[in-house]
Amino acid sequence: MDALAPVPLNDGHTLPALGFGTWRVSGEDAAEQVRSALGAGYRLIDTAASYGNEAEVGRAVATSGVPREEVLVTSKLRGADQGYDAALRGFERSLGALGLDRLDLYLIHWPLPARDLYVDSWRALVRLREEGVVRSVGVSNFTAAHLDRLVAETGVTPAVNQIELHPGFVQEEMRAANAARGVVTQSWGPLGRGKGLLETAEVRAVAAAHGVSPARAVLRWHHQLGVVPLPKSADPRRRRENLDIGGFVLTGEEMAVLGTLPQRRLGGDPDTHEE
Ligand SMILES: NC(=O)c1ccc[n+]([C@@H]2O[C@H](COP(=O)([O-])OP(=O)(O)OC[C@H]3O[C@@H](n4cnc5c(N)ncnc54)[C@H](OP(=O)(O)O)[C@@H]3O)[C@@H](O)[C@H]2O)c1
Repeated sequence: MDALAPVPLNDGHTLPALGFGTWRVSGEDAAEQVRSALGAGYRLIDTAASYGNEAEVGRAVATSGVPREEVLVTSKLRGADQGYDAALRGFERSLGALGLDRLDLYLIHWPLPARDLYVDSWRALVRLREEGVVRSVGVSNFTAAHLDRLVAETGVTPAVNQIELHPGFVQEEMRAANAARGVVTQSWGPLGRGKGLLETAEVRAVAAAHGVSPARAVLRWHHQLGVVPLPKSADPRRRRENLDIGGFVLTGEEMAVLGTLPQRRLGGDPDTHEE
């Protein structure tokens, strides 16, 4: 496997080019998967307060044998903890559950615009970064308008915006909006969440042309778009396979073909989603 260059952030730090997702994995399964992912070479682990697995993720990081300073842990502020004081308390709970003394990346999970608390929440995240208990701060599922409001009202641009992104939902405008503001895009649901993307003729043809699996072809597509995918797999062989995206390059035509699949959002709409 070729090493993939780390991705620079607007705060001077970097992110690994690919991370491991932990949505809907709990208990001993979560601890086992994260420990095994770290053993396979993942160095960015994505969790969230609302996943209910922070304790297991933290235990896995602590017992993986990989030095803590080599691992980046992301967590996210859940909707019930939005607001300035509530966000500070929510962060303390997450950090306590994880058993860590600092977080590497902390995101507002959803903007929840109807509640109108995301700017206050953002001020709390900025304070946590200034205090040094969070290395980088960012958001998830934010639109360009939400990003602009944060910047206008606080002067601080998020380092990351984690959004739904896969060949079945290519998010060209949102990727461009993030890039124009110096925000790194992370892809959630990068493999299309097991809903048929990897079985499409287009993905299979591109994969076959390089002698790789459909998942590797799709993750390479993300990498060549300049975004950071966060694939999840319960299968150790697939976890290793998903890391192995460095030894081949998709042509411009192949990149374009993967961008022409029927487009459909699989998760919530940032303007209306409620947690
Ligand atoms: N910020 C947000 O609002 C948000 C929302 C959703 C998700 N996320 C994050 O993004 C992560 C990834 O998204 P996701 O879990 O929804 O979906 P995903 O990673 O796109 O898809 C996971 C599915 O793909 C399958 N898969 C994985 N590797 C494969 C391979 N090599 N070959 C064939 N199938 C493969 C998995 O099955 P097996 O397990 O059987 O391999 C699983 O069914 C989450 O875990 C979470 O950390 C964030």
